[in-house]
Amino acid sequence: MSRQTMDSLVLLGCISLWAGLALAEVGSFSNCTEYFYRGAEPSGLHTPRTAEICQRYKNQYRFATLYDKANRIPRWSAYILHPSNCPGQPWRLGKWFMEPQLRSNQAVSKDYEDTSYDQGHLNPNSFQCDENHRATFTLTNAAPMNPCFNRIHWSKVERTLKTQLTGNCSNLGGTPYLMTGAVPSNNVKIPIQDEDKEWDRDRPYNRVSVPSHLWTAVCCNHQDKTHKFSFAFLGENKEESKLSNLSVDQLNEVLPCLYNTPGQIKIFKDDCGSKSQKGQEVLLAIKSALYNTFQILLSDSYSQLLPPVKMINWTGRPPR
Ligand SMILES: *[C@@H]1O[C@H](CO)[C@@H](O)[C@H](O)[C@H]1NC(C)=O
Ligand SMILES: *[C@@H]1O[C@H](CO)[C@@H](O)[C@H](O)[C@H]1NC(C)=O
Ligand SMILES: *[C@@H]1O[C@H](CO)[C@@H](O)[C@H](O)[C@H]1NC(C)=O
Ligand SMILES: *[C@@H]1O[C@H](CO)[C@@H](O)[C@H](O)[C@H]1NC(C)=O
Repeated sequence: MSRQTMDSLVLLGCISLWAGLALAEVGSFSNCTEYFYRGAEPSGLHTPRTAEICQRYKNQYRFATLYDKANRIPRWSAYILHPSNCPGQPWRLGKWFMEPQLRSNQAVSKDYEDTSYDQGHLNPNSFQCDENHRATFTLTNAAPMNPCFNRIHWSKVERTLKTQLTGNCSNLGGTPYLMTGAVPSNNVKIPIQDEDKEWDRDRPYNRVSVPSHLWTAVCCNHQDKTHKFSFAFLGENKEESKLSNLSVDQLNEVLPCLYNTPGQIKIFKDDCGSKSQKGQEVLLAIKSALYNTFQILLSDSYSQLLPPVKMINWTGRPPR
């Protein structure tokens, strides 16, 4: 092999470690309304430094993300569970996409290298098939997750949720709308795990906020009101994570406290049947599956997940 060929191979190798370009629509959700329950985007989570991203891949829209350019993580992604099972999708892909339009205001794969954090998906790759699956591997859909939390607690909730939503929503003619959010922690950025690496590696650091909490809100929309339901999960992004189930209206009350935002938050217009009996039944099925199979106990008292300082400064109605 000639020296020149080797050099270009090395160069190619470097490029493939770098991310591909996704070219989503940055700046408006107008072509992404199908991912929102009743076409209404969630309100109250914007800041002056958030960007609306209509995630596009291979010229088709795939899901929606509100990206926080100050913290370099998404505040949330909104998506629909793919109705069919598609076994054999890869769990990992070598390449993550990034958005050239966000320029330096986004995380890059290097931010996660040599750190103790996973590059965790908000719209989970396991909820999508084929091109939609591929499209979840974009850095604008990723946040640093504690590996134990991500690979054990959160992924088990995701797996069980997928089974239940397939059986109790998609297969019954409903549409499962989901939103997963990451709460940026005030001052915790991805640190360098090994201080020595700071010297031998030209990598940016202390740029990406580590979320304190992750949450997922679920809305099964159905013409028949007895099949319509919603609920939510909230968990702490740490090894010994506590997880709670809560109703969507309770989530609306808790999020302003966690995100430290002044206004009201509305995840799903009209809360999507948050009082329905069906929701309680599906939750119970999820709870017992998690407990029996994985020994994860979902707690009813989500107030214990709120940080004490924020509890004191609570301006809305106190959590019950
Ligand atoms: C939405 O899609 C239309 C048709 O493809 C396109 O012309 C328009 O620019 C898109 N809107 C935004 C905000 O990008
Ligand atoms: C659906 O919900 C019922 C309760 O309404 C539950 O017993 C059942 O296990 C659920 N799961 C599936 C996959 O149908
Ligand atoms: C959590 O789910 C259980 C059903 O297993 C339900 O009884 C309880 O009310 C839920 N908690 C909240 C806060 O909604
Ligand atoms: C409480 O909230 C007010 C207004 O949002 C803010 O100015 C103050 O710094 C907060 N205090 C604490 C202890 O977080």
